Amino acid sequence: MKAIELREKYLQFFKEHGHKIIPSAPVIPENDPSVLFTTAGMQPLVPYLLGEKHPEGTRLTDYQKCLRTNDIDEVGDNRHLTYFEMLGNWSLGDYFKEESIAMSFEFLTKVLQIPVEKLSVTCFAGDEDAPRDMVTYEAWKKAGIPDERIYFYGKEDNWWIAGEEGPCGADTEMFLDTGKPACGPDCQPSCGCGKYVEIWNNVFMEFYKHKDGTYTKLKQKNVDTGLGLERVTMLLQGKETPYDTEIFAPIMKKLEELEKIDDIASRRIIAEHLRASMMIIVDGGRPSNVDRGYILRRLIRRMTRHLNKLQIDLAKLGEIIDLNIDTIQNLYPELHEKREEIKQVILEEKDKFMKTLSHGEKEFAKVIQRLKTEGKNVIDGETMFKLYETYGFPPEITVDLAKEEGFSVEKEKFAKLFKEHQEKSRMGSEQKFKGGLAEQNEVTTAYHTATHLLHQALRQVLGEHVHQNGSNITTERLRFDFTHPEKMTKEQIKEVENLVNEQIKRDLPVTCEEMNLEDAKKSGAIGLFENKYGDRVKVYTIGDFSKEICGGPHVTHTGELGIFKIKKEESSSAGVRRIKAVLLPKE
Ligand code: SER
Repeated sequence: MKAIELREKYLQFFKEHGHKIIPSAPVIPENDPSVLFTTAGMQPLVPYLLGEKHPEGTRLTDYQKCLRTNDIDEVGDNRHLTYFEMLGNWSLGDYFKEESIAMSFEFLTKVLQIPVEKLSVTCFAGDEDAPRDMVTYEAWKKAGIPDERIYFYGKEDNWWIAGEEGPCGADTEMFLDTGKPACGPDCQPSCGCGKYVEIWNNVFMEFYKHKDGTYTKLKQKNVDTGLGLERVTMLLQGKETPYDTEIFAPIMKKLEELEKIDDIASRRIIAEHLRASMMIIVDGGRPSNVDRGYILRRLIRRMTRHLNKLQIDLAKLGEIIDLNIDTIQNLYPELHEKREEIKQVILEEKDKFMKTLSHGEKEFAKVIQRLKTEGKNVIDGETMFKLYETYGFPPEITVDLAKEEGFSVEKEKFAKLFKEHQEKSRMGSEQKFKGGLAEQNEVTTAYHTATHLLHQALRQVLGEHVHQNGSNITTERLRFDFTHPEKMTKEQIKEVENLVNEQIKRDLPVTCEEMNLEDAKKSGAIGLFENKYGDRVKVYTIGDFSKEICGGPHVTHTGELGIFKIKKEESSSAGVRRIKAVLLPKE
């Protein structure tokens, strides 16, 4: 079965079981400063897991574009990927454990036709925070998994949370027996020897973990599941690595044809990083020295380094990108639509990097020479940092080069120096990633409502030609781009500010109604009309002041917002102005 068929079968199956298919959110999260990339299917759904109503109902399914960078150094082996796709289904306070397990079992055994004998499952063993999960155990037994293939593990294995704080709960994981020999008498799903491979994770999200480590119950019991598309495709095809599936095979073959040096790890790094870069670029990411842009830069540079290492003619990179897009555009048609843009960004970054690479490699050779004469086999953090700062060497490249020389590196020291550097070069750059999800949610929710007030105030002061052109919220400020041909005057800025603050003082109720898009338009709601949430939309009304289409969440009363202050009004692009504004605590 091909990846595209697996995706279609999955979505179709859950549709038949009452789920609405929703589109994938971008791999670059919208209005969520707490993470650099979307790392799981549940992430864009956090407000709804916490109790916000989703316009499409309580049963949802989608494929989600995800990127995780924690294992970036491992890419090149036979399994780690940075970009991957997660298939998922959700119950937002609808079904819970039994029904979720029955559906997973049916999908695995009936639709994918995996023999029951090959399946093992794991359940939460229980501790002081939550009891042993006998409901899940019973549900698996009822489905047909015998006792000896049901395992109980503690929080390390059978509890899921994104990060340190947020919605969470016990989970149950499904494992496929690959048929490889057992590693010993104790071989079991948790041992990691490769005999058992995890294929699906169903999380029963009924708790919220707070910053202080305590748990409280959520308003509703949710189910959040995730199935890795690349991995399951590989297993269904009986392949050893994702690179052997149709997602990567054509590009791997092409690299083999073009290379002068044969190295499978390098080929994998090139194929993997190129796909990840394309997926970031297509969702709006651009290379830079901070945050998301820096990850993208690292991916492109490392890929380029390995092309160079295999002595592949870099003039062929455009061709390689084209092939890559052709290969996976059935999964992501947006790649084809933005083909030229993607190529341009990658090729430009490649050129920039090539200018510094040869200098850097010479410098690196000197460093190695010096260390060798000193009898050392570790590259210290300062040298790593110097290679980064002077030659634009991302840490992975130093790691790669070091490995080739039999050297190790002081990664932690580098990370420390790098962090200090970023903090200096962009004030507070790390700051916005601190603080938990709860705090993020409260503050960003307030900014979200403030954005609606600002939008309407601008229309009243400047005119109806004002439309939202972009919005971005962090825990420190809102940024709002809108159509307006000229610089705002001081008086206009003051007037807008006052108008927003008046609405805050009036403590207007914020209410939400669901309707179809046509009715929303007729009701006079403003906002982005593109079909982002499907046909059903939510319209948020703020007293008699504003009516806007939006996914939410919002505060319940404007009085919660504090004092609104515009910090900056500037040009964003031709015909588009940009406002940065903050909410200050009430005196
Ligand atoms: N959130 C869980 C995971 O990422 C299930 O979707 O595995």
